[in-house]
Amino acid sequence: MIIFSSRSVLLSVYYPQIFLILTSGSYLALSSVVALGTNIICNKIPGLAPRQRAICHSRPDAIIVIGEGAQLGVNECQYQFRHSRWNCSALGERTVFGQELRVGSREAAFTYAITAAGVAHAVTAWCSRGALSGCGCEREQQGVYTREGGWRWGGCSADLQYGLQISRRFVDAREIKKNARRLMNLHNNEAGRKVLEEQMKLECKCHGVSGSCTTRTCWTTLPQFREVGWALRGRYERAVQVEAVRAGWLRQPTFLRVKKAQSYRKPADTDLVYIERSPSYCEQDGVTGSLGTQGRVCNRTSPHPDGCQLLCCGRGYNTHQYTRVWQCNCKFQWCCFVRCNSCSERTEVFTCK
Ligand SMILES: *[C@@H]1O[C@H](CO)[C@@H](O)[C@H](O)[C@H]1NC(C)=O
Ligand SMILES: *[C@@H]1O[C@H](CO)[C@@H](O)[C@H](O)[C@H]1NC(C)=O
Repeated sequence: MIIFSSRSVLLSVYYPQIFLILTSGSYLALSSVVALGTNIICNKIPGLAPRQRAICHSRPDAIIVIGEGAQLGVNECQYQFRHSRWNCSALGERTVFGQELRVGSREAAFTYAITAAGVAHAVTAWCSRGALSGCGCEREQQGVYTREGGWRWGGCSADLQYGLQISRRFVDAREIKKNARRLMNLHNNEAGRKVLEEQMKLECKCHGVSGSCTTRTCWTTLPQFREVGWALRGRYERAVQVEAVRAGWLRQPTFLRVKKAQSYRKPADTDLVYIERSPSYCEQDGVTGSLGTQGRVCNRTSPHPDGCQLLCCGRGYNTHQYTRVWQCNCKFQWCCFVRCNSCSERTEVFTCK
């Protein structure tokens, strides 16, 4: 029986929430995690595709980082859509990546892209810290040197290619059905990774007499994941509707093309694509997986999607009044105590009917 390596046990001390994700609610105490073999861990994770389970068995350390990456994606999704009718939650099949959206909508497109990007980001970050076996940082990206600028690669470049590769192997492995949705999901996974790649940053350091910068050493670093979130949010707003084209002997869905009269264009690599229109997300609906907006906190005066009018879909809202009390105007008195006033404010919170 393979026991978690001491390193991954160490990682789980710092990242206990990973086990929350891995075991999906049935939280295991760390001591029992240590005692468990990978068999039990990997068999306990719900919704793993066969190929994902195999990766879990061979790379238990990577699976922890993958879990962190998936959580990174979910958190960012919830942040980006905190004011929308769809708040990144859904009713549906539970997977390692959270609840699955049943409709092949632009919202589903976003969740796939952000998850694939999150996994690649987390793996790359762990590699750069030297905390994952099998990768590190690119000490020298070979062969890039310009004589004129005296500019060269050096330092420790983030090994994004490794992160992208793990994301491809693991995240894409859940697509086992041969249908249009599979093509859509795979396209969006890759779009998420492409957008992450586009957001990579170049950092440089100057060398030379008294900081004259005659030569510079440069390396690439990962962006903050929030930046990836905003970039993908922009892609979501401009998502492209596509349809699957059947080809070959078996007439199976083979590639995607933009759904528009007389258009035979393929979607761009960084486009988020969807095959079905979104539900309104106003009411709870088990068929589409919509949770509805009942009970959501809204802003009474906002004309935007977070306003009660739009968020509550015209159903109206409930008003909750309460008094907030806190210590204020605190003054230091000689010697030695602090005297405060008690301030209060009437606050109202509005929630959708
Ligand atoms: C999203 O909205 C649903 C329905 O109102 C609510 O139950 C859920 O807690 C919300 N999720 C988040 C992450 O805010
Ligand atoms: C509500 O929306 C208005 C207008 O968009 C904004 O100025 C205000 O700060 C919002 N209030 C809260 C509590 O978010």
